[in-house]
Order: sequence, then structure tokens, then C-alpha cells
Amino acid sequence: MCDYSQLWLDWKPRKDLPPWTGRIIGMPASPQGKAALRELREGLAALGAAAKEDGPCLRLEELPGEGEGYSLSFEGGGPVLSGPGRGLLYGAFALLRQLSLGESIRPETSAPRYPLRMLDHWDNADGSVERGYAGSSFFFRGGRPVCDARTRDYARLLASVGLNGCCLNNVNVSGEALELLTGKYDQTLREIGDTLEEYGVGLWLSVSFAAPLDRGGLPTADPLDPAVRRWWGETCSRLFRAVPGLRGFLVKADSEGRPGPQTYGRTQAEGANMLGSAVLPFGGRILWRCFVYNCAQDWRDSQTDRARAQYDTFAPLDGAFADNVLLQVKNGPVDFQVREPVSPLLVRLERTKRMVEFQLAQEYTGQQRHVCWLAPLMKEVLDFAGPAGKVKDRADALCAVSNTGDDPNWTGHDLAAANLYAFGRLCWDPDLEAGSLAREWAGLTFGPDRLVEDTVADILLRSREVYERYTAPLGLGWLCTPGTHYGPSPEGYEYDRWGPSHKATCREIGVERGPGGTGMTAQYGEVLGARYGSADTCPEELLLFFHRLPYDYRMKDGRTLLQRIYDDHFLGCAEAEAMAAAWDALEGRVPEEVFRRVRARFREQIRSAREWRDVVNSWLYRLTLIPDGKGRKIYL
Ligand code: GCU
Repeated sequence: MCDYSQLWLDWKPRKDLPPWTGRIIGMPASPQGKAALRELREGLAALGAAAKEDGPCLRLEELPGEGEGYSLSFEGGGPVLSGPGRGLLYGAFALLRQLSLGESIRPETSAPRYPLRMLDHWDNADGSVERGYAGSSFFFRGGRPVCDARTRDYARLLASVGLNGCCLNNVNVSGEALELLTGKYDQTLREIGDTLEEYGVGLWLSVSFAAPLDRGGLPTADPLDPAVRRWWGETCSRLFRAVPGLRGFLVKADSEGRPGPQTYGRTQAEGANMLGSAVLPFGGRILWRCFVYNCAQDWRDSQTDRARAQYDTFAPLDGAFADNVLLQVKNGPVDFQVREPVSPLLVRLERTKRMVEFQLAQEYTGQQRHVCWLAPLMKEVLDFAGPAGKVKDRADALCAVSNTGDDPNWTGHDLAAANLYAFGRLCWDPDLEAGSLAREWAGLTFGPDRLVEDTVADILLRSREVYERYTAPLGLGWLCTPGTHYGPSPEGYEYDRWGPSHKATCREIGVERGPGGTGMTAQYGEVLGARYGSADTCPEELLLFFHRLPYDYRMKDGRTLLQRIYDDHFLGCAEAEAMAAAWDALEGRVPEEVFRRVRARFREQIRSAREWRDVVNSWLYRLTLIPDGKGRKIYL
């Protein structure tokens, strides 16, 4: 028995299985095809299928190639699952999922919408996880990478929701992680790569742009220096041969103190393309992060707008990146707040491959102590339409910062596993509805119990807006405690070097980013720019992201801006209490241990929500001396 759960892969017996589930025919040859067969055998047995020697059967037909799609048809009373090995694997998990949910199995063809669907781990070589809220790393223990049974079970989990990439280490590469490039850990990396590959998951590594200096003994990391290019070329030549599962590098350069091409007066494209050419002979790719901004800003400087920075740096380079370079763009222009507009880079780049980056690790959304289901946020981003079309149609790949660690339930909060699940499923098909994903996850995780499914789905679906209401209103963001990013501290980032601030006075609040302010709204092009540029037409949920407004500004429903903020905080907190009560009603219907763990997290969520409510409301009351119109308790 292992000491961690199998999450949604813990198949529960069903009585209504079709007769063909007792017999599987077909001998796939590829590692992924073999994995498909094994998953089906074990999964069907766990679902309660009795093995049979004859009668209707499930037939596996492996086709040649590396494709990831599959088709399911019916022949002689049983289904035929056909596709290349990778496709069979995804088809196998789809079948198990449908059977487990009691859905009827119908003919279908299915293929992933994006060729690259990955998770980024912020795991450090010392076993800690940056912004990790679910224990320590399971990729690094005792100061070095490890490959064990958990590696394989993780690969299964990723494959079961359609993910096909995993970056092993933190984008902030330091210490022993620098040795991942040097050959010291080639053997373990190879094992990890092979284990992931068996489940169709490619291995990626975060690398430091300064590696030629730090580990190559060179005096420079200038991307145009021939010795630097040679060093990267030789390093890749060894590494890619030693680690066949390796797909490429993820790079955080010129960002939050990380080294990058700027140091040498080179552009982001020159830096990225240099690495692109080093990995090209091995079919490798570079994922180049766009999180470039000045994090040493003088708070007195109101001209520099952090929300502008990424677009200002990368938009002029549109078309300058090599074919095997993808820009990795955070979903919003600042940093994973509970509500931000979509990053203008995602809707304005025309000639550059791009990858949307989400953050499942709930750094700013309750740190896996609060429930905050992010599928509605992801859907909002993917469905967002810019001048050149919808984000989901323009994106070349999706990735997310992982929320997993070595906790027995993988994600700290049991309900946070729904974030991982939904992300994978949306990478496969961004048109899936949040409501059906919530039910799917609840059904697979807790088994067929209508009340549990309804309750859990309802909690998940409401949770993001509830969190938004009792924390940072109307797109303002950043009212959290500096450094830890947990709990309220409304003035915490005000006189700091990180950029965002609200400059709240007794009369008004917010940063003006319209034409009369930093002009950031123009980055969205004419139509959207005009919409965001005026408070009258700006969507209300983003009002304080884009505008500086007086507290008596009238919202569409007639309330003042301040009253709306007070109301949201009281309401969000009451809703958090109601979600906790709804969970309490599930006692005896979900496993005892899970019930207790989630109940304990809800208690912390309520404590923290009350703190948020009272701190934010008191702060604004003390600034404005305008009381709550409904006379509720605000602390002086
Ligand atoms: C946030 C986070 C950092 C992280 C950074 C990034 O700022 O707080 O821990 O390194 O994002 O995405 O690179």
C-alpha cells in the first residue's frame, strides 16, 4: 500500500458495467500502448468487471505514429479503441472515466486541442517548493532528484487528464538545481524522463540563463558570444542524448533578479533564439517566460506601470522569435491575482507562438487553505476575445504552475485536486463547461452520490467569486501580506518596490490606466482599449484594475463604489460560512479522513475570511469615515 491517494484514479466498483468490460483483446507494442492496456486491465477490474474468456470484448488497435488522438467505434457488440499508443492511453482513461461515471459509451473521435499541455513545478533541489502548499517536492529529496513509484503514479495522474509535459524544477534555478545541466544527475533524469514518457509526458527543465558563467567557467553569458553558444550546444548535445525524454527548457530571464540577455544589451529574442538553436538539433523547444518587469521600482514614480511592462517588452519583438521558441505568458498582465484582465500579449501577438500560463498553486487565491476553484477563471481567459480572435484559438499551448507536493492527498486541500483535474481537461478541450467538470471530478473522486456531487460542485463553482469578494475588490488585487501573500495587509505593498499600489486617500482609490493615466488600456487595441479606457464602459469586476475612482462613484446598480466594497466583504464572508456548512452536511457520506481534513481547512478559511472582511472594511472606513449604509459592524 502506498502512503498517498490515487485521487480520481481510485476507481470504485459499479454494478452496471457493460458485458464487454470482462474481456480485452489487442497487444499494443509501444510503451504508451502497453500502459493503456495495463490501465484498462487494472481499472476495469477495480470497477468490478469479471474477467471472461469469450463473448463481447473491448478491442485495442494500435496505429503507427506519435499522434495523440483516438477513436472509439463499435463492432460485434463491443467497442474498438484505435489510435497510436499515446492516443490509446488517452482513450483508455476516457473509457474508464465514462464507465466510472455511469455514462453510456458512444462512438467518438477525440484529439487534444493543444499539442503541448504541461505543468510547471516550482520545486527546488533541496526539496522545498516555491509557493508550494502541499508539502515538499516528490521530485527532489535529500538534495537531489529522485525517481520512484510516486513519479510513475504522478505520470498516470497527468496522462489521465490529458497532460503531456512536466517541468521538474523551479524557474528560479539555484543551488544544486544548476547541476541538472552538468551531467551529475543524467542517470536519474533519464529514469524520470523514461517513467514520464511511458505515460506520454515529456520532461522539461528550468535552466538559468547564466549557466555558462555559473557552471561553464566562462566569463560571460552573452547570447551572441561564440563561446557561450558553443557551451550551450555542447551541453545540449550531451544532455539530450543522455536523457531521451527531455523536450526542452523553460527560462525565466531578466525577471525578478534572474540573469538574462538584457545584461549584455541583447533583446529577449536574441536570448531565446540562441537557446532555441542549441536545442533545435534534438527536436527541443524553449519556453521563454514573459514575466519581465522592473521589480525595483521607486514607489514615488507614478509613470512606471508594472501592468504595462510585459507588453512593452515583448510586443515590439512579435515575429522575431525562432519557430521552436514559445512565449510563456501569465494569464493576466500582473501576477496571478484572483481577478485581472487577460494579458494583452495573449490577444495582440500575431506572429509569435505563445503559451498561456495559469497558476494552480494558489499563491494569491488562498494557498490551498481556502477553496478557490480556478476553472471559471481559466474559462474566462480562454474564451476571451481580442482583436485577433479568442485566446483559446490563438494559444499554441497551455501550462500551469503545479499545486502538487508530497502530501498524502497531493494538493494539501482535498478540493484543490479539482484544479489540477480541470486544468488538464481544459487543455484537452477548452470548450468543456465548468459545471460539468465540477461534477465529473466530484463523481470520480467521491463515487456516485447525488448529494455529494451537487454539494461539491456547488462549492467549487461559487468558490472563486466568494474568495474574490472577501479579499480584493473589483480587480484591485494586492491587498495581501507582502512576501507570504496570505492574509490581508492593505497598505503592505504601498511604499514598496514591486509596483502595484492603490494610492488610496480619503477620497479615491486605484491606479488610472486609461488614456488620462498610464495609458495601459491602449495595449488592448482600439475597440477593447476604448471599452477598458472609460470607467463607464469598463466591466465592473475590473473597475479598480483600470481606474482611479472616488468612493461615491455610482455602480450600475446605484450603490456607491465604497458600499459595494463593504457589501462584497460581508457577503463573501457569509458565503464562505455557508460553503463550510454545506460541507459539514456531508459527514458520513465522504471518507472520514477527507471529511475532517476539509472541515479543518474550512475553519481556517472562515477565520481568514473574517480577518479579510474586517481589515479591508475598517481600513476604508478609517480612511473615509463613511459608514456602512446597512449599519453592520466595522471596527474603528
Ligand atoms: C510570483 C511569485 C514568485 C515567482 C514569480 C514567477 O512573483 O511570488 O515566487 O517566482 O511569480 O512567476 O516567476
